[in-house]
Amino acid sequence: MFANIKSQIHKLAENVNKTEISRLEAMMEEMKSAEDLDELIVKHSVSQREAARICGMSEASFRIKAQQARDDGVIDDVKIHANRYLYTLEHIRRLMEWMEKPSWRDKFAECVVMAIYSNKGGTGKSTTATSIAAGFALDTTERPNVLVIDLDPQGSQRIFSSTPDDTRMNSLSAVDIMLGASGEEDDGAYAEYIEAGYSHEEILQESIYGTHIAGFDVIPAFPDDERFTAKFWINFAKGGKLDFVEYLNKHVVGPLKKYYDIIIIDTAPNISPLTWTAVESANAMITPVTPRMMDWSSTCQFLNTLSGQFDDLPSKGENLKFYRLVVVNYDDEKNRDRDLLNRIKDSAGPSLANNIIKRSHAFESAARKYCTIYDLKSKDAPARQLEKARDSVDSLVRELRLEFADIDWGGSNE
Ligand SMILES: Nc1ncnc2c1ncn2[C@@H]1O[C@H](COP(=O)(O)OP(=O)(O)OP(=O)(O)O)[C@@H](O)[C@H]1O
Ligand SMILES: [Mg+2]
Repeated sequence: MFANIKSQIHKLAENVNKTEISRLEAMMEEMKSAEDLDELIVKHSVSQREAARICGMSEASFRIKAQQARDDGVIDDVKIHANRYLYTLEHIRRLMEWMEKPSWRDKFAECVVMAIYSNKGGTGKSTTATSIAAGFALDTTERPNVLVIDLDPQGSQRIFSSTPDDTRMNSLSAVDIMLGASGEEDDGAYAEYIEAGYSHEEILQESIYGTHIAGFDVIPAFPDDERFTAKFWINFAKGGKLDFVEYLNKHVVGPLKKYYDIIIIDTAPNISPLTWTAVESANAMITPVTPRMMDWSSTCQFLNTLSGQFDDLPSKGENLKFYRLVVVNYDDEKNRDRDLLNRIKDSAGPSLANNIIKRSHAFESAARKYCTIYDLKSKDAPARQLEKARDSVDSLVRELRLEFADIDWGGSNE
């Protein structure tokens, strides 16, 4: 009987392998049409008056400056819609840089590498990662460059703005790069690029997808990233070595630090070699917690294991300069949530972020549409829900920004 089931499963595996969906097919589902992309870009565009205000100039001087920037090829043509100029986020960033306006990088020498880490599924890790990444990137004053690295093989960071005519050879995940660059794998997508003459830096650039929000990029994940864990344990069993957990920092995060101000790593809901790579690369960490008894109880267990996990890593967790628990999906109309929040506050003390991400349908709408809460239109969610979502993320982003400013991050971006 058992042998039958075994051969049945074997057959099943053979069959499903034949019909396995390719990366491209999987990504097609989330790809945006050129029109959708245009619409999103226009949504974040501002009028000439607003652009002048952001750049800290009068509209008259701004008009002259912007014309000069166009003549010098700093920005491309600015679209006009209903008699109004539409300055995109990209235009604003380029103009501000060209005018040498102070930026995030002038204040923060070191890249903030923030792991979103919790063993509990569905606590809002990916929502938090995407929302705060967008919140930071949309800050036109300081204009940080933000990258989200998806390390969850479920691939939840699907907000990238690839269109079906994207010409890259193949899509690489952080796992492909780690395994390829370390020489653990010589037959994957990474090896294909090397054979085609690309350098490591160029391969990294190829693996990054822009989004419709200028300054917000993504490295997506794929289901076969699961193999990292299997390979780790086989390697570990042979030599008891932990080299694998250093690969993300060595081959992906480290070389990208000079291009980004904030790198956010979204992890899978487990304690595994892949999530350890995130911890090993990070100098900041957030654990989102949903104010439900079971979730909090599970998070407490997780917190009990954290320092032990650090001790076992090569860096011993000593690179971490910032840690916060963030309450996510908080329903302010429920006594239950309020009571539990008070309990969490009592036990977490200063490790708890002051700002919480409230419960709002806007997050679910954004996830369904592969976009962020900042991209939703009024028909996508009721105004109150949209406002609640944006206000809570904006406040959290402001809090993080202020906290970051007080930290001595050490080192500097080369
Ligand atoms: N503040 C919120 N309000 C309402 N819904 C939310 C909120 N935050 C997250 N959600 C919803 O909860 C679900 C789980 O969120 P999310 O995918 O971010 O969690 P996760 O921790 O990344 O999950 P996983 O462990 O599977 O990776 C999603 O459907 C998301 O839309
Ligand atoms: Mg997730």
